[in-house]
Amino acid sequence: MTQSLFIKNAAQLITMAGHSNNPAVKEAMSELNILENGSVFIQDGKVVAVGSESDLRKTYGSRLEGTEEIDATGKVVTPGLIDPHTHLVHAGTRENEYAMRLKGKTYMDIMESGGGIHATTRATQEADEDQLYEESSKRLDKFFEHGVTTVEAKSGYGLTLEHELKQLRVAKRLNETHDIDIVSTFMGAHAVPMDEKENPEPFVTRVIEEMIPEVAKQELATFNDVFCERGVFTPDQSRRILEAGKKHGLIPKIHADEIEPYAGAELAAEVGAISADHLLRASDEGIKAMAEKGVVGVLLPGTAFFLMAEFARARNMIDSGVPVALSTDANPGSSPTISLPFIMNLGCLMMGMTPEEVLTATTINAAHAIGVAKEAGSLEEGKRGDVTIWDVPNYLVLSYQYGMNHVDTVVKSGKAVVV
Ligand code: NIG
Ligand code: FE
Repeated sequence: MTQSLFIKNAAQLITMAGHSNNPAVKEAMSELNILENGSVFIQDGKVVAVGSESDLRKTYGSRLEGTEEIDATGKVVTPGLIDPHTHLVHAGTRENEYAMRLKGKTYMDIMESGGGIHATTRATQEADEDQLYEESSKRLDKFFEHGVTTVEAKSGYGLTLEHELKQLRVAKRLNETHDIDIVSTFMGAHAVPMDEKENPEPFVTRVIEEMIPEVAKQELATFNDVFCERGVFTPDQSRRILEAGKKHGLIPKIHADEIEPYAGAELAAEVGAISADHLLRASDEGIKAMAEKGVVGVLLPGTAFFLMAEFARARNMIDSGVPVALSTDANPGSSPTISLPFIMNLGCLMMGMTPEEVLTATTINAAHAIGVAKEAGSLEEGKRGDVTIWDVPNYLVLSYQYGMNHVDTVVKSGKAVVV
């Protein structure tokens, strides 16, 4: 049966049209392509057209008969938000470490003494698939309520073949059962297991020779990510892991220069990564190399906020020609949030981005960071009918008022859910 939806007369319909082939850079990050009093017609899950209500009625008169309608008068309509970097599938929380950090312990101290990623790895290894599914599904509901229709999800709390595959199977099942679309990333190289810290090479070999081939064979991931950081994986180990992934069709991503400058941005450009993420301490050379190669900089200001660290130099990156996207980094240790709208606030207030740039960074540029820009991230003919309707009179309010949820309705593939 043909299903259709007509969202009519939004005060501002932000289409983000025109950036599907390449991510928006520099001034293009401010081109939102806004229709005042705009409407969008969605049929069979895909956008048919955007325009004024009267034009669309003229063109599609008979096709619009009997169509479900949403009156968006006085509201803002955007493409469904896209979160391009999450550690969605995991068990448990780490508020105990938060309390320790507030007393002066650092994130890396805690990790080196067996907490941090290791703590969540233990909890995730112990959890069965159904438990992980339930916990993660609840998190996804919250993402959806905050206007997000696509998320990337990483493994990396398994650290053995068995448990990494388990996490990825949960992400696959969530993609099949939940309204939100999930793009999966293998991140076996998220930490060196505690008992191998002194001699990490055998673990690196297992990631390369055992885990990557099996993940690729089972088609459980699109991307391959590594935590390139002093005390975790060196640039040389990271390079080998990312090159090995490429041989098996997994596209590289990197957790780069998060805690210390470590030439992660440079490595991202060298291996042709689709994105380099974090970049709090990225060097000038690294930023230049990313701009030259078109590597998307996925910035995670929630992590800087929560770790009480210096923020990434978003302004410098945008002005240098790096396509910038924004993400929550949702995870229990360094960024326990699912609110991409709050990340927009931080993008503006703490990283000098404009309200236009943060919208681009959470829609079409986020889509480019996870390779889905042909299907999602803008409201254009043929793209998925993924739409967020916000109960605000203009888009400036989205990154101005903070700590509140302005979502009115989320539409996933043409199906409307009132939030
Ligand atoms: O992106 N830096 C490494 N990974 C995550 C944190 C994971 C955790 O602390 O559990 C990050 O910040
Ligand atoms: Fe992360």
